[in-house]
Amino acid sequence: MKNRSLVSINDFTRDELVQILDLAETFEANPRQRILSNHVVASLFFEPSTRTRLSFESAINQLGGRVIGFSEAGSSSVSKGESLRDTIQTVSLYSDLIVMRHPLEGAARFASEISPVPIINAGDGSNQHPTQCLLDLYSIRKTQGRLDSIDIAFVGDLKYGRTVHSLVIALSMFKNVNFHLVSPMELKLPSSVKKFIKDAGYNYFQYEDMNEVMTKVDVLYMTRIQRERFSDPMEYERVKNSYILDNMMLTDSKENLKILHPLPRVNEISENVDNNSKAYYFQQAQNGVFVRQALLASILGVI
Ligand code: CP
Repeated sequence: MKNRSLVSINDFTRDELVQILDLAETFEANPRQRILSNHVVASLFFEPSTRTRLSFESAINQLGGRVIGFSEAGSSSVSKGESLRDTIQTVSLYSDLIVMRHPLEGAARFASEISPVPIINAGDGSNQHPTQCLLDLYSIRKTQGRLDSIDIAFVGDLKYGRTVHSLVIALSMFKNVNFHLVSPMELKLPSSVKKFIKDAGYNYFQYEDMNEVMTKVDVLYMTRIQRERFSDPMEYERVKNSYILDNMMLTDSKENLKILHPLPRVNEISENVDNNSKAYYFQQAQNGVFVRQALLASILGVI
C-alpha cells in the first residue's frame, strides 16, 4: 500500500482491508510509537468535521508525526479564489501525505490524479468516506468476531450517506452478508451502490418501517438525515424525524446486536440508548484512531 492513495473503499482488495484491520489491532494495543517522527501530514478540511479530523490528528500526534492544514476553506486561499489544483500542488510541496475532506463528489479522486503525494479521502460530498468504512469494519469485526455471515441494517439517509455507500461496497467483498435497507422512499440507496451487492450475488431487503428489522440483525447502522445535502428544505422537513431509536425498540433484538452510528447524531438515537450495552457508537469513534494509524503507517511505508 506504500505511496497509494485511498479515495474509494474499492481501491483496496478484501485482503488489503483485512491487513489494515489486523495492523490496527497492534496499534490499539500500543498506540504511542514514534514511527512518524520524520513525516509531515497535511489535513485539509473544506467541510466541517469533529471525529475524522481530530482522530487523524490524534493518530498522527501519537505516532510522533507533524500535522499542518486548515479546518475550514475560509481560512485558506480558496477564499481568494484559488483552485483545488493549485491548492493541492502547493500543499504537496510541504507534506508527505494529504488527508482531504471536500463537499464535492469526485474532488478526492481529482486530487489523487494531480498530487505527487498520496491522498486519503476523508469524505467527498455524498460519495464515499473510506476511512470511516475502515473503522466501521474494525468495529463490526471486534464486536461480532467476524465480517462474514452478518445481517446488517442500514437506517436513515441511504441516498446521501457516504459512510453507508462505502460500508455496503466493502461488506459486499465478504461472504454471506445480508443487507437490510431501511429508509424513506426519497432516501433509498442509489442503484450504483446496490450494484455492488448484486454483483457479489447477494440479496438486499428494503423497508420503510425500522421495526421490521429489529429482531433480524447483528448490526444496526443508524445514520443522520443530513440537512446539508438537501436542495429542497421542505423535503428535509418531511423526512428529518423518520427514525428515532429508543430502548423499547431494542427489547426483542438479538443478544449480540451492536448499534453503530458514524456520528454526529441529531435525534435519531435517543440519549437513553447510550447506556444500553448494545450501544457501540462512541467506542466505534475511538476505533478511528487505531485504523487511521494503521492506514498512515501502511501508506507512508513505516511498517
Ligand atoms: N463520522 C464522521 O465523519 O464524523 P465527522 O463529520 O465529525 O468527521
